[in-house]
Amino acid sequence: MPSKYQAPRGTFDVLPADARLRQRVERTAVEILARAGYERIATPAFEDTELFERGVGRSTDIVRKEMFTFEDKGGRSITLRPEGTAPICRAYVEHGMHKLAQPVKLCYVGPFFRHERPQAGRYRQFHQIGIEAIGTDSPLADAEAIMLLADLLAELGVPGVQLRLGSLGSPRARSAYLEELRAHLRANEAELSKDVRARLEINPLRAFDADDAGTRDVMASAPTLVDRLEGEDAAHFAEVRQLLEAAGVVYEIDPTLVRGLDYYTRTIFSFVCDELGAQSEVGGGGRYDGLIEQLGGPPTPAIGWAVGIERILLALGETGSAPERDAFLAVADPGQRQRALALAAELRRAGLSAELDLAGRGLKGQLKHADRIGARRVLILEADGSAQLRDMASGEQRTVDAAAIVEAIGGEAR
Ligand code: HAM
Repeated sequence: MPSKYQAPRGTFDVLPADARLRQRVERTAVEILARAGYERIATPAFEDTELFERGVGRSTDIVRKEMFTFEDKGGRSITLRPEGTAPICRAYVEHGMHKLAQPVKLCYVGPFFRHERPQAGRYRQFHQIGIEAIGTDSPLADAEAIMLLADLLAELGVPGVQLRLGSLGSPRARSAYLEELRAHLRANEAELSKDVRARLEINPLRAFDADDAGTRDVMASAPTLVDRLEGEDAAHFAEVRQLLEAAGVVYEIDPTLVRGLDYYTRTIFSFVCDELGAQSEVGGGGRYDGLIEQLGGPPTPAIGWAVGIERILLALGETGSAPERDAFLAVADPGQRQRALALAAELRRAGLSAELDLAGRGLKGQLKHADRIGARRVLILEADGSAQLRDMASGEQRTVDAAAIVEAIGGEAR
């Protein structure tokens, strides 16, 4: 019967088959990241709204239209986190992590919330795996972070991945460039979309992201920041590139690369995937050398990235397979139920997976159920205390010594 209640628009339930796939993705990620010294951090699912206004930036789409913001009972403005970098920087400052050995390398897995128009690969509650390396401005950190994400996607088998790389320079270089870009946009204002025109003063870079033909034409001849990098910014970017090349990482410079968050400085990158269609980015990130200071901490350079778990799963195109159980304990006689319960516990303590009938089925029903849940073997406990072990694939059945049941099942499972 269809329920009158459904998961809210843009959200979804993670059912067990999907949960297994997700667990593999998360485990692989955390293992790869742990080997590079990244430790888990978890921050709350909601924060003071101002953290995101200051951190992510008031001119961004995220802050302007996508945040789930509400007042709590004390009248404070609270926002469900739309991203993880600002909260982690808040935690870094709050816990005085600048006193720890630098850089502090953190990784996280969890849900994030953006009020976007839902479509394939874009949800209102989604999940990210991310890292932040805080307290280093070395180009080595940029190259290492990018390589970790490349390795993760390769290890998971995400097909058709391409890396796009850009640099936004330092804020000073950027503001000179932004003036030049605004002048170009103003000179061609008539051809720009209404949205781009409205944001020409506050966020002219977003014009590179526009879909309409008029704006795209104007942007084809726009000056790009990568070509305007000078001094230390240019040297930093050159070194990141050289390190990636020496490591054999294939990338493409994308002079029009922009990201939807205001905190980025210098290196930015995006991993896109052929399989993903319109929402083609599987993950991305960059440097944010000014964010910690902006949030009240000491000047602290940092870099990080995040990948969307749903986008990884979409790119992999996998559907979950049923798990196998080592054994199902069936009873030929209801008098054996207590023994089945005890044996199941014993098998589990020995590290095996075991289930028993919880629905009072007859023997035939129990065998059918064991088959449906993917049990590899069924132990049939007979009324006289003896036991039969049946292999579900071959149908073969043999008597096992009642005193050595765990050994018999364990020996076959290994
Ligand atoms: P972001 O580019 O906004 O960056 O998001 C990172 C990834 O999250 C995207 O590449 C995408 O896979 C996934 N994602 C974003 N929005 C959605 C959505 N509505 N539905 C499904 N997946 C989505 C950040 O969040 C930065 N905090 C990354 C970062 C970390 N930069 C430095 N450190």
